[in-house]
Amino acid sequence: MEYNVRPETMARITTPELAHAFIEEQVKEIRAQVGDKKVLLALSGGVDSSVVAALLIKAIGKQLTCVHVNHGLMRKNESENVIEVFEKQLDANLVYVDATDRFLDLLAGVSDPERKRKIIGKEFIEVFAEEARKLEDVSYLAQGTIYPDILESIKQAEGKKAVKSHHNVGGLPEDLQFELVEPIKLLFKDEVRVVGEALGLPHAMVYRQPFPGPGLGVRCLGAITRDRLHALREADAILREEFDNCGLAEKVWQYFIAIPDIKSVGVKDDSRYEGWPAIIRAVNTKDAMTATIEEIPYEVLHKIVARITNEVEGINRVLFDLTPKPTGTIEWE
Ligand code: XMP
Repeated sequence: MEYNVRPETMARITTPELAHAFIEEQVKEIRAQVGDKKVLLALSGGVDSSVVAALLIKAIGKQLTCVHVNHGLMRKNESENVIEVFEKQLDANLVYVDATDRFLDLLAGVSDPERKRKIIGKEFIEVFAEEARKLEDVSYLAQGTIYPDILESIKQAEGKKAVKSHHNVGGLPEDLQFELVEPIKLLFKDEVRVVGEALGLPHAMVYRQPFPGPGLGVRCLGAITRDRLHALREADAILREEFDNCGLAEKVWQYFIAIPDIKSVGVKDDSRYEGWPAIIRAVNTKDAMTATIEEIPYEVLHKIVARITNEVEGINRVLFDLTPKPTGTIEWE
């Protein structure tokens, strides 16, 4: 397989001016590539697919159809935000698919992390393919491939083994072989964010922390149940809100809650209260290959503990994971 290599002369996009120049150039290139044909995009709500969507909307408007598959493993309000920004603000052609039940039914009773990942990845492609088949005359598939993905593919082609199987929308069935539109494939993540802001996307969307494809599925540890998934989503929203409030959101690379499939004995309102522990993970890293633990002020931790144990049904303890990577991976699964 051949890969595009970033020319050494290509200037790093660090300013709004450089971003606007890139956008103008890409708008021309996209129009030249697709003409009056239709383009499809899997819009996850992550930085990369959001920036590609905004670029394509600018270039070809309603010739683009975005499909947002909610696998039921999104964080609180995430799908709602995608609808708000793309359908309401940018007037995109957006197909929203709530596939929560399909995913959770398939995942019921499955506890092995890699099997969970495979099921989520495969079903995601399945749901997306079903939606793609309903659309007529689509010729192109847009993807939020960025330069590190290309570098990673080159490395894998050279025989290095991946630790966990990450998924994207590659691997669509044979009958859906589209030509690809990959307008940000030579950009690094920091450049994608500068371009995203220049395109007018909300700051929170552009600076969103990384979120794995299988979503909360690999944070609701072991076999996923709806009640524990709900508790995880609520606890995670509290953590994010408190990190936002005290400025930690800007300083910590990735922070989230994981909930294991165990209960401990606790006490609430003078009665025995068995509940799950919520585990806080807050790490800094440059390349996700190694990670260090961010020091969180005790008063912030106390507040998070109080809010989670008071506000989230089913959680009676909060733990803070102090393990760097290695030996702990960033995710628990
Ligand atoms: P680990 O847990 O391997 O995570 O230290 C490194 C980075 O990768 C993310 N991650 C994933 N991303 N699909 C993804 O798209 C996955 O299956 C997956 N597993 C881990 C993780 O959130 C961290 O940023």
